[in-house]
Amino acid sequence: IKRIGVLTSGGDAPGMNAAIRAVVREGLHLGLEVYGIFDGYEGLHQGKIKPLDRNSVSDVINRGGTFLGSARFPEFKQQKTREEAIENLKKYGIDALVVIGGDGSYMGAKKLTEMGYPCIGIPGTIDNDIPGTTYTIGFDTALNIVVEAIDRLRDTSASHKRISIVEIMGRYCGDLTLGAAVAGGAEFVVIPEKGYSEAELLGQIKAGIAKGKTHMIIAMCEHVTKVDKLAEHIQAETGHDTRATILGHIQRGGTPTAQDRILASRMGSFAVKLLLEDQGGRCIGVVNSQMVHYDIIDCINNMKRPFNQELFDLSDSLF
Ligand code: F6P
Repeated sequence: IKRIGVLTSGGDAPGMNAAIRAVVREGLHLGLEVYGIFDGYEGLHQGKIKPLDRNSVSDVINRGGTFLGSARFPEFKQQKTREEAIENLKKYGIDALVVIGGDGSYMGAKKLTEMGYPCIGIPGTIDNDIPGTTYTIGFDTALNIVVEAIDRLRDTSASHKRISIVEIMGRYCGDLTLGAAVAGGAEFVVIPEKGYSEAELLGQIKAGIAKGKTHMIIAMCEHVTKVDKLAEHIQAETGHDTRATILGHIQRGGTPTAQDRILASRMGSFAVKLLLEDQGGRCIGVVNSQMVHYDIIDCINNMKRPFNQELFDLSDSLF
């Protein structure tokens, strides 16, 4: 392998820039040439490819987002689109590709690998929903943003004796919501892994009020229910003023935490070393603080993320 490419795909995540930087700098350090592919798989298909040098990644370690740009590109599911993308890579003499992104990005990397083009997947998403790793790049930063938002909501809901529902991203993974609920001291946590019953939640809220609680925070993972409607129902049932706040894309921006920068740097460097050992078709993770790698196809098809039951129990017992 002489020349590698790097792209970011799917929803951006803080720390992606640090990962790109690590791929570029480790690659150059080990005698490779590194090319940046702009705007994810869409840019790959359109041939938006440029060489990167040391200076291309100066002053990016502290920046949120991804300077390479990102895109959701469902067309990459088509075999023909991928064949055209591989042609572009061959045109530039790029032998292997590092893909930084979430599950959709892994799927693209898996398909390219199956077509004989070696890819390495680095987990970059605030959702923390990728198997084979305890943490994804961007999760820690988003977690801190959400906790800060909950702290702010607590100030105002305590002052007004209100119930506050906060909708948190994560797609169908409750990690961000659960972590933020424990760190932010939320009274209730609703995550997809545990199912949801509005009647049960209402019962618990009423029990809280009966115990003398004057304000409460409900940490709610997105896609579980319509939070505006729920706020109306809670208000009607309890007589307590209730507000819903959807944090939205604010959770995805901003300066990456030190943890995310370190994780991204380790993963970027590790990806390059694996490629040099001819280990294509792998995805990277961190487990028990150690870098690990798995077959990307096995990871997508068979591996499951363990659920953190201990943290869930904690969110309940500390209420
Ligand atoms: O995967 C990251 C994520 O932010 C999810 O948490 C969220 O469901 C989704 O992306 C939002 O996607 P978009 O940026 O396309 O609206």
